[in-house]
Amino acid sequence: MSGLAEEKVRAREQWTLDPCGAVTDREHEFGTREFFDNVEHHRYTEYAAWMPRVMGFDKFRDARLLEIGCGMGTDLLQFARGGACCTGIDLTPRSIEITRHRFRLYNADGAFMISDGEHLPFRDASFDVVYSNGVLHHTPDTAGAIREVHRVLRPGGTAKVMLYHRNSLNYWGDIVLRRGVLHADFLRGRSVAEIMSRIVEFSSHDARPLVKVYSRKEARKLFSLFKSVTIEVEQLTRPELRFLSPLVSESMLDRLRKWIGWNVIVTAVK
Ligand SMILES: C[S@@+](CC[C@H](N)C(=O)[O-])C[C@H]1O[C@@H](n2cnc3c(N)ncnc32)[C@H](O)[C@@H]1O
Repeated sequence: MSGLAEEKVRAREQWTLDPCGAVTDREHEFGTREFFDNVEHHRYTEYAAWMPRVMGFDKFRDARLLEIGCGMGTDLLQFARGGACCTGIDLTPRSIEITRHRFRLYNADGAFMISDGEHLPFRDASFDVVYSNGVLHHTPDTAGAIREVHRVLRPGGTAKVMLYHRNSLNYWGDIVLRRGVLHADFLRGRSVAEIMSRIVEFSSHDARPLVKVYSRKEARKLFSLFKSVTIEVEQLTRPELRFLSPLVSESMLDRLRKWIGWNVIVTAVK
């Protein structure tokens, strides 16, 4: 991986300094069981309770499953607990170190390697399932990475990929209206892409990773090589509703989440 594109250098910097989800537990020492338990608890109860159901962590027993961009291995460990044969790759060496350590800590089996999702080091048709959550919108050639997902899946295999959603409250409300217009970032000459690279990912070091967004239609188009494609939208928390929150019932929040949530989840069968 010599001569890495500038966006990928920034991605490595971002997730070396701020591993994905680490900020959700500042109470325990990084890398301890208590730390990982808290990260996991926060993710599947407070932040994204929909994930176990929609991602189907327990639905792939004995499947050969590849995760692209496994980060701290939070989701990959759930697939392993569900009985999948897990392989995790990540562009950032520290992500692989953390995931390997975490699997060892929980006595789970898996294979891990530093690798770029745009150029997967696997033969055609090597996996039954390819999973990627919040990764492929950070890489310059997203379409190329999805061609790789297609290539390494066996015919009939399933891809499950989460991308950030353009037609979401987060994009139009927080990024465009609040930051772009009200905080005058547009007046300062900042583009939406620049605003996103500054604020979407938690960053203690201002690494400014590449961030892209996709509408349902754009996401579907990216997966046009696949035989069947299903699109779901999820991810909206009450604090994001700000002053409107007291006016929104739980059932309204459910409907809003599936309409203008921040995540587009593509399930595609090869
Ligand atoms: C936002 S984090 C998501 C991590 C994990 N999937 C999760 O949901 O917690 C993005 C991860 O993707 C990795 N990444 C970014 N670009 C990549 C690429 N081209 N190939 C593989 N991994 C990549 C980063 O190193 C980082 O660990």
